[in-house]
Amino acid sequence: MKKIFVLIGSRQKNGNTTDFAKRITDRLDKEKFEVEYAYPQDFNIAPCVGCSRCFLQAKCVSRDDLPLLHKKILESDLFIIASPVYMHYFTADLKLIIDKSSWWAHTLRLQGKPVVILSTCGTNGHDTVIKALSKIMTYMGGNVIACSNAAQLPKQLDNEKWMQEVSGEIAKRINKYAHIPHQSNQHIEEVFPYMKAAAIIQKEQGQNIGMEIEEFKEYVFWRDTGMENYDSFEDYLKEKYICKEVVV
Ligand SMILES: Cc1cc2nc3c(=O)[nH]c(=O)nc-3n(C[C@H](O)[C@H](O)[C@H](O)COP(=O)(O)O)c2cc1C
Repeated sequence: MKKIFVLIGSRQKNGNTTDFAKRITDRLDKEKFEVEYAYPQDFNIAPCVGCSRCFLQAKCVSRDDLPLLHKKILESDLFIIASPVYMHYFTADLKLIIDKSSWWAHTLRLQGKPVVILSTCGTNGHDTVIKALSKIMTYMGGNVIACSNAAQLPKQLDNEKWMQEVSGEIAKRINKYAHIPHQSNQHIEEVFPYMKAAAIIQKEQGQNIGMEIEEFKEYVFWRDTGMENYDSFEDYLKEKYICKEVVV
């Protein structure tokens, strides 16, 4: 059984964004996929106070439900993140969750997990959310396998032919990527060397002022996962997720 976690940025549990996501997940075999939907109001997420301690500690200082939400994302085999377009961007609810997950963008925390990005809009937000979320998910190490916006105008949300084609294609990709080892892609590869260098520089600067390596949890993540020993994310994932051949 593969787990899919769907985070909807809208508080409208019966709204357009949920409808769009459900058109896709309803096509998946219930014997093979367990799908969980979550909404901002299901979690108590405290505001980001801007202390930047998450970058050192790899966790937020607030005592809220963020760790629970993170656990659900990390334990899923495939993550769907979706938002309505609000003023040409994703919702403030989703932005808060993403801001409070900023250290994930320094550690490729999604580790090649397949990610689907969805948005819905009225008339004029066709790519503003899916482009922004694609970049963020890529920095977080998510392998974006599909992204799509469904608009009210031009008619996409209420266009059965469009909906069938798009939901069918995305469901097909979900079926494929949920069942194969985590993959890299060219966009994550572009990010990898810079993030690796940043983690190592952060550690060295800290050491120069007498701090302990263990205090730099972002670097510790690079070290403990073994990512720091690789020149590419692809090579790292191959080693980590593909069973090594047994040589006798
Ligand atoms: C506060 C607010 C701002 C919005 N801003 C935009 C916008 O900038 N562009 C657009 O095309 N639609 C905009 N819309 C329309 C929504 O994106 C659209 O109705 C969406 O499908 C709602 O999804 P939901 O039912 O899942 O909440 C806005 C809606 C609201 C409530």
